[in-house]
Amino acid sequence: MTNTRSKKDFLRDTIQHIDIKAHDVRPLVTSMKSMAFQARNLSRAADIYDQMIQEPDCAIILCLAGSLISAGLKGVVVDLVRSHMVDAIVSTGANIVDQDFFEGLGFKHYLGTPAVDDNELRDLHIDRIYDTFIDEDDLRVCDMTVAKIASELAPRPYSSREFIGEMGRYLEKHGKVKDSIVLASYQAGVPIFVPAFSDCSAGFGLVHHQWNKTGPTVTVDSARDFLELTKVKLAAKESGLLMIGGGVPKNFAQDVVVAAEILGKEVPMHKYAVQITVADERDGALSGSTLREASSWGKVSTVHEQMVYAEATLALPLIAGYAYHQGHWRGRKGRKFVEAC
Ligand SMILES: NC(=O)c1ccc[n+]([C@@H]2O[C@H](COP(=O)([O-])OP(=O)(O)OC[C@H]3O[C@@H](n4cnc5c(N)ncnc54)[C@H](O)[C@@H]3O)[C@@H](O)[C@H]2O)c1
Repeated sequence: MTNTRSKKDFLRDTIQHIDIKAHDVRPLVTSMKSMAFQARNLSRAADIYDQMIQEPDCAIILCLAGSLISAGLKGVVVDLVRSHMVDAIVSTGANIVDQDFFEGLGFKHYLGTPAVDDNELRDLHIDRIYDTFIDEDDLRVCDMTVAKIASELAPRPYSSREFIGEMGRYLEKHGKVKDSIVLASYQAGVPIFVPAFSDCSAGFGLVHHQWNKTGPTVTVDSARDFLELTKVKLAAKESGLLMIGGGVPKNFAQDVVVAAEILGKEVPMHKYAVQITVADERDGALSGSTLREASSWGKVSTVHEQMVYAEATLALPLIAGYAYHQGHWRGRKGRKFVEAC
């Protein structure tokens, strides 16, 4: 059967990123405190995040898993970085490379639908994330931009944090939009760690680089990432985690307390911890494991912790928006932890 529709018929309306600055959600979130279930949990989580911001020496580590940036949450994270409401980011590669860096290059995510013939999408080079469409040809450009950045670097092992810094430098020169997590973090000295760096568009770029380059190549050293994030914890002492989704970033950020111990350094457990997740704990898996469980491993203190069982596109704008409009970030200086790495 021949296609009667073209790519343009599917890629029309773009995902718009929500602006927490435009909505003062404090009365709503405060009212939720006297409700039950996830409304009360969310209200308490927002309060705990606000406490992290108020504590002057507490480093805030934002963890990102799931498809958050393609879903319209990019502006939230950019605002948190610019307002000194996060000091370090640990993420999956999809959020940082396939989605944020991708948009930084001028590409878009499109409003789609799950009620679609995926074979038709395949024929048109359109990728689908639930109800969102992406032009796969644009993604190829993203892959190859990573390959180009790698090929212009001195061949040696890099932490993902260093490599993402180079991506920020690239966007500063060649980027098409100002609102980018990679760019804003580069400019603010906020380190971004992607421990599974090859499991995304960056992996395709690095495979291309390593296959085509004669002699030594750029490699990414995830142990170096772990050491660098541990150095951030050592420099910060007190820390709080704002975790969106579960996956690798959640455990990686929690584990730095244990890594510091392995180095013979005594550091406090993460003092604050909030997690938004749709996973529950019954399967014993990491993404839904409770923060109380993490305390049995010596990673998270149980005094200021809150799980919120909710989908992140709903919960993060409320939690981040509440803390933003509380305004306590105004007294907070950027920690520039990139210098501790
Ligand atoms: N997500 C993508 O579209 C995508 C694309 C390319 C590559 N990858 C790679 O796949 C690997 C795994 O990615 P992942 O960790 O995002 O996997 P994932 O989507 O399985 O997320 C991990 C966990 O986070 C929670 N979660 C995810 N989305 C959520 C949401 N919207 N709200 C609340 N909780 C949510 C769930 O509990 C989930 O089990 C990474 O290395 C990533 O770079 C992912």
